[in-house]
Amino acid sequence: AKIIFITSDSEKVELEADSGSVMELAVQNGVQGIDGDCGGVCSCATCHVHVAPEHFDKTGPASEIEQDMLELDDDANEYSRLCCQIEVTDALDGVVLHVAK
Ligand code: FES
Repeated sequence: AKIIFITSDSEKVELEADSGSVMELAVQNGVQGIDGDCGGVCSCATCHVHVAPEHFDKTGPASEIEQDMLELDDDANEYSRLCCQIEVTDALDGVVLHVAK
């Protein structure tokens, strides 16, 4: 699936993957602003993205555990996800993710 990141500097990064988490893909490719400090266990929020509203059905909403983390983040909105919790599947193809601050 093709996954498109827009960094906070408005840089567009297009990546391809078949499996793994979106956070791993971003970290492996050095996407600015995705740090993945906790290694993907939903406890750091350094993998916070805002899904493009028109693509929110591709990712679905944040889980309860994610929402608990996101509550602590001033930049969170209704399209927030922690992208270590988004698994790469074909359903994601073409998704646009804005890297949160
Ligand atoms: Fe830590 Fe996603 S990598 S919450």
